[in-house]
Amino acid sequence: MSQAVVFACSHRRGGNSDLAAELLAQGVRRAGGEAEVVHLRNFQVMPCLACGYCDADVRQGVDRCVLGRQDQAFDLFARCFEARTVLFASPIYFYHLPSRLKTWIDRGQQFWTARRDNEPWVADLPARTARAVLVAGQPSGEKLFEGARLTLKYFVRNFNMELAEPLTIRGVDQRTDLDGRADLEASVIELGETAWNSAG
Ligand SMILES: Cc1cc2nc3c(=O)[nH]c(=O)nc-3n(C[C@H](O)[C@H](O)[C@H](O)COP(=O)(O)O)c2cc1C
Repeated sequence: MSQAVVFACSHRRGGNSDLAAELLAQGVRRAGGEAEVVHLRNFQVMPCLACGYCDADVRQGVDRCVLGRQDQAFDLFARCFEARTVLFASPIYFYHLPSRLKTWIDRGQQFWTARRDNEPWVADLPARTARAVLVAGQPSGEKLFEGARLTLKYFVRNFNMELAEPLTIRGVDQRTDLDGRADLEASVIELGETAWNSAG
């Protein structure tokens, strides 16, 4: 539990959530912590097959999913087990999370079944708080962030984390729209600092 992991979840390189991820990491470092920024788009993740394999038995860790090491989903999950705190920087796509992130999240079903079965390798993970910055192009939309928030909330529970209320940013659409918005940048950095300072 030595470092923070920041998942940068956009399919677009160098955009607003990439910047938000770097600012979160900056906040963690400012608070004296270490942070790794992980760009999901660089990882191969296959979709959950809904095959029921993980539901059947007491297989553990990478063996719980029939897909095993055929892709890099478990490399990402391992970080959720080991991180002192986890942060997400994600755009909104069609009122929800980007498909690669959602594909990875669906693979987390194996941990849901493991927790349901009270398996100690997941049940005994330390209680932690996860945080998120969500960015969207539109300035309006009452429930713009709601789907993303709920999905992240239940995903991180697999790793014994509670999701803090996400920091939501509207009206940033073009690649560099967040860049130079000092007020918003400061609030993202502050979130990174808070994440580190309040992590056990
Ligand atoms: C496939 C796709 C779907 C999108 N859907 C929405 C949406 O439903 N609501 C919204 O406000 N913005 C939407 N956007 C705009 C992005 O949220 C916005 O451009 C954001 O800044 C992208 O973040 P990034 O720079 O980190 O890639 C969508 C963008 C893409 C590519």
